[in-house]
Amino acid sequence: MATVGVLVSGSGSNLQAMLDGVADGSLPCRVALVISNRPAAAALARAAAAGVATRIVPHGDFPSREAFDGAVVEALRAAGVDIVALAGFDRLVTPVLLRAFPSRVLNVHPALLPAFKGLHAQRQALEYGVRIAGATVHLVDEAMDHGPIVLQGAVAVAPDDTEETLARRILAVEHVIYPAALRLLAEGRLEVDGRRVRIRGDAPSLPPPLIAS
Ligand code: GRF
Repeated sequence: MATVGVLVSGSGSNLQAMLDGVADGSLPCRVALVISNRPAAAALARAAAAGVATRIVPHGDFPSREAFDGAVVEALRAAGVDIVALAGFDRLVTPVLLRAFPSRVLNVHPALLPAFKGLHAQRQALEYGVRIAGATVHLVDEAMDHGPIVLQGAVAVAPDDTEETLARRILAVEHVIYPAALRLLAEGRLEVDGRRVRIRGDAPSLPPPLIAS
């Protein structure tokens, strides 16, 4: 069974979706460690409540991104981690982490990549006027919000959506596609061919994309 380490910075609702999947048996993984760069992250309490070990590694204690990643890698290795899930983690990762876990680092982004990379993706989508928004789970590479896409899910943008209402509906999609993508990676069912990720066996059944009215 795969051993997962989760990197968080905030509320940890994606972490919770993973922990719930582990608890109900739908996600055949062990979450061995949750690391936060922010001591106040609510995600830490979620981990503790599920009996998962936590570590706080404040990024400000390190002279560079690489040095910070080195400390994170050391903690992940000590916990026996073989898959790393970034879940609302607000730091850019470096090759120090990526080389330690090649093709084994996942991220979730609240937009249909390659649109709306970076911060405030939901606001960017609303301001652009898209009719369909969504979320993407991708393998992490050295460029921001760029690596090969594993799963995406879509939601319709409602005429009266605000950044908050849209973010909430997108988050609900993240909570479905992130555990599903993690499961595929954990089961060794992803085959990466350049930018394209093929899924061996049956693809997970996900809600169909919605068409905006
Ligand atoms: C999610 O929308 C994720 O896509 C983005 O940050 C948010 C984290 O939410 N990167 P949570 O901490 O998992 O609740």
